Amino acid sequence: MKLILLGPPGAGKGTQAKMLSQRLAIFHISTGDIFREAVQENSPLGLKVKGVMEKGELVPDKIVIKAVMDKIETHSLKKGFVLDGFPRTKIQAVELDNALNELDAPVDLVIYLRTSLKVSISRLSKRRVCPKCGFNYHLINIPPKEEGICDRCKVSLIHRPDDKEETIKKRLEVDLQESEELLNYYREEQRLEEVSGDLDSDEVFETLTKIFKEKKL
Ligand code: AP5
Repeated sequence: MKLILLGPPGAGKGTQAKMLSQRLAIFHISTGDIFREAVQENSPLGLKVKGVMEKGELVPDKIVIKAVMDKIETHSLKKGFVLDGFPRTKIQAVELDNALNELDAPVDLVIYLRTSLKVSISRLSKRRVCPKCGFNYHLINIPPKEEGICDRCKVSLIHRPDDKEETIKKRLEVDLQESEELLNYYREEQRLEEVSGDLDSDEVFETLTKIFKEKKL
């Protein structure tokens, strides 16, 4: 299955993408993770995107598209994938369609996790991440067993630098500016399914699996 998960910052894209990739044995491709890894490694890509991410702005389309297509090509298209955090602009969506159509491997489904502003803000400000396995905890909804420590890796959890109050505000503003055009692109082609991102993560997951069944995916 080839799937796109859209939604504002904090909608739960990463959380659902991880669950889906495990359950369906498909690849999880997250542009945020690709860029964070590059920043950590101080690679040429990391140096290009670090400042932009810290400000909560979007990485230029050309850089993002190349990063994703590099990943898709090196991953098996046959096995399938879930895209998390990409596309984020209409330009990215059109480029992705063109590239996948050329490979005769179009996306099967686009899901939008519609999420209220209040929920997004609460999730992002209380998110804590394991720097080793990347698991996303939430201080209230998904707390670790031992405060500040990853249940599996036993290392200290971190607060993502772009989860500071001012940067969260900026990321949500940027999302509002870009998302309508992007969603309309998929709506016009009747490829968009909407699911409430405000539900708890198991309920979202159940709703998603129901949709896959209905669509025989
Ligand atoms: P990215 O990492 O993609 O950030 P984002 O889109 O802002 O999304 P988040 O990762 O913050 O949220 P999420 O929806 O994955 O939620 P999560 O599952 O973690 O991108 C970071 C930056 O990279 C961008 O700002 C930009 O600069 C750049 N970038 C990336 N892609 C780009 C692109 N295509 N174009 C240009 N620039 C790009 O959940 C959040 C919290 O809530 C967690 O604590 C989790 O445990 C909890 N939670 C999740 N679901 C639920 C639930 N249902 N109920 C209760 N709690 C929940």
